[in-house]
Amino acid sequence: MSIEFFKERKIFHLQNEEISYAIKILKNGQLGHLYWGKKIKNAERLNRYPITQHRPYEAYAVKDDTGFILENIAREYPSFGQSDFREPAYQIKAEDGSIISDLKYRDHQIYRGKKDLKGLPATYVEKDSEADSLEITLYDEVLDLEVTLIYTIFRDYPVITRSANFNNNGKQNINLKRALSMSVDFENRDFELLQLSGAWGRERDILRRSLDQGITKIDSKRGGSSHQQNPFAALVEPDTDEYSGEAYGFSLIYSANFIAQAEKNHYGKTRMIMGINPFNFSWLLESAQSFQTPEVVMNYSDQGLNKMSQNFHQLYRSRLVQGRHRDQERPVLINNWEGTYFDFNTDKILEMAEAASKVDIELFVLDDGWFGKRNDDTSSLGDWYVNEDKLPGGLEYLAQEINKLGMDFGLWFEPEMISPDSDLYREHPEWSIQLENRESSLSRQQLILDLSRRDVQDYIIERVSAILNKANISYVKWDMNRPMTEYGSLKLKAKRQRELNHRYILGLYRVLEEITSRFPDILFESCAGGGGRFDPGMLYYMPQTWTSDDTDAVERLKIQYGTSMVYPASSMGAHVSAVPNHQVERSTSLKMRYDVASFGNLGYELDITELNPDQIKAVKNQVKNYKEIRRLVQFGDFYRLQSPFESNFTAWSFVAEAKEEVLVGFYQILASPNPREQRIKLKGLDADSDYKELNSANIYGGDELMNYGIKIPYLKGDFSSKVWRFQMI
Ligand code: DGJ
Repeated sequence: MSIEFFKERKIFHLQNEEISYAIKILKNGQLGHLYWGKKIKNAERLNRYPITQHRPYEAYAVKDDTGFILENIAREYPSFGQSDFREPAYQIKAEDGSIISDLKYRDHQIYRGKKDLKGLPATYVEKDSEADSLEITLYDEVLDLEVTLIYTIFRDYPVITRSANFNNNGKQNINLKRALSMSVDFENRDFELLQLSGAWGRERDILRRSLDQGITKIDSKRGGSSHQQNPFAALVEPDTDEYSGEAYGFSLIYSANFIAQAEKNHYGKTRMIMGINPFNFSWLLESAQSFQTPEVVMNYSDQGLNKMSQNFHQLYRSRLVQGRHRDQERPVLINNWEGTYFDFNTDKILEMAEAASKVDIELFVLDDGWFGKRNDDTSSLGDWYVNEDKLPGGLEYLAQEINKLGMDFGLWFEPEMISPDSDLYREHPEWSIQLENRESSLSRQQLILDLSRRDVQDYIIERVSAILNKANISYVKWDMNRPMTEYGSLKLKAKRQRELNHRYILGLYRVLEEITSRFPDILFESCAGGGGRFDPGMLYYMPQTWTSDDTDAVERLKIQYGTSMVYPASSMGAHVSAVPNHQVERSTSLKMRYDVASFGNLGYELDITELNPDQIKAVKNQVKNYKEIRRLVQFGDFYRLQSPFESNFTAWSFVAEAKEEVLVGFYQILASPNPREQRIKLKGLDADSDYKELNSANIYGGDELMNYGIKIPYLKGDFSSKVWRFQMI
């Protein structure tokens, strides 16, 4: 891995074993983009590009070169308004109302390692030898504005990270109308855009569409990264599939309103941009102030989508997620939500915990309803004081009793919210996000606390800490259950109101940084009505996310398959729940439910006391089995083998790093009579080794399993599954 600057030719070349990324200082002093893709040894030769060409009726940015048309040149951090009419990476408004800027190369710095982004989550290195970084400072002399583009190339992953930092050196105030994390211009290519979209209960469907002249945009304006769109997009070739073809993946480490946009212009060139959503955003940069954008991870694969996903998984598992739990196996948990909803007391919880302990579940999670007067969702968010009527002896007693059963105790919070019917609201009505003189829309009967305010952040830190200090709590589920509306803060000046969403998330990040550092032993799982904030920003603070409120095994095939496009299995909470399923009323077997949930972080979410002895026995075996496979599931390489979006079947597998262990899951949605024979070809095995299938003790060659495949036995009935475990011999 290295970053070179070829001074004469004014070319920067970032490279590792797999990829190259090249930038050039153009003759107008701005930065041009030369190349990103599979490694090119000698980037100096890229000097011959860009080839400029006169085009009729275009504007040109250099007087003596009518071919120097910015619209037709690949640019690195483009502005608007000087012969390039595509949407830009950033836009300012000066005090005179002008929106034109002209950022030219000023200087640069190359160094080993990677710096933190102050106040923002980002990937990191543990040793400087793991990455090299480049900072290129650009300067606009009229505005006296400096923008530093920050790049890091990792040694071990075909990945580059980017962000930008704005510095107002001048005397005038500058309004940032947009400040994206990155822009990359591609040559004339037929790209398709792949995205993860959905809704509550059906998050992260894989959608793919071809791009044509015009703009294709995905974004969130909902306050959080959202159920509807994930802060991820990929540009792929029309023939790119799971195992072949090029894929350029973009993932934004950010949890608030974002944009990912592809624009194809009249020369067939595609510009991809990503960052904070410019809609409803502006930032006042006063003299001597700076602004840091979030980080985007740019991931290149020339071996299809699966390799792109594995790159994300490895990077996020080891260099985004932090803390003690990062490399530890995650506990099998039981959560009482779908088992009791709000209707529980100490006796009920202990009864459930006792039954759970008998099947060797390791962690009991008490969900919503333990505080204030919360017996339904109409009140008490903000009143983080235990409800002793429901839980006499409080959380201390409950935790002690659960610990005595040999289990850890975990607790649910929704700290960012406030119920209008709460003591906190009665005391601090000014603490919610609101506009003076306008009614606030409710969602799930609640409002959002204004986390742009320091006093609100401090209140959350102190209240949550007080609870966590009082009882022996090993796990926290951090929920957030509504979109942001009527964007307004009673504390912000009018000229800063459009900063609210970003200030909110910076406030949340501060709260999370503080709480997770105060309680390093606690395992945190984030949640937002299920998977409404499943993003890399949250993963930086909390190694797991509740993937979806939809726990139906069939629905979960799609949800977990789609989520795996970016996020590793160790980040996905996956629970076995009761049947008929509470979200879709479908009944599936306990086996099918386990066979799906065990391909993530396994949990149970039902009233375990209602299971009959046979079911209890089966669950005990499942937990035992999961403990045997969980290192492989949580830290192995994931392969998507058959897509639930394309057929009646799903198949996926995990292969251990040294290829010695393999786990394969195959699922049938609807049964058919007299079905065709099916085989699944495995991936990622050692072709020269033999593998034993643990159930049948049959021996197979690695090459046989990958080239001939395994035969799928006839599966009887709808919603059926089959799982194989192979061991190298
Ligand atoms: C939404 C979450 O996704 C559920 O799992 C549960 O915790 C409820 N909130 C509780 O209100």
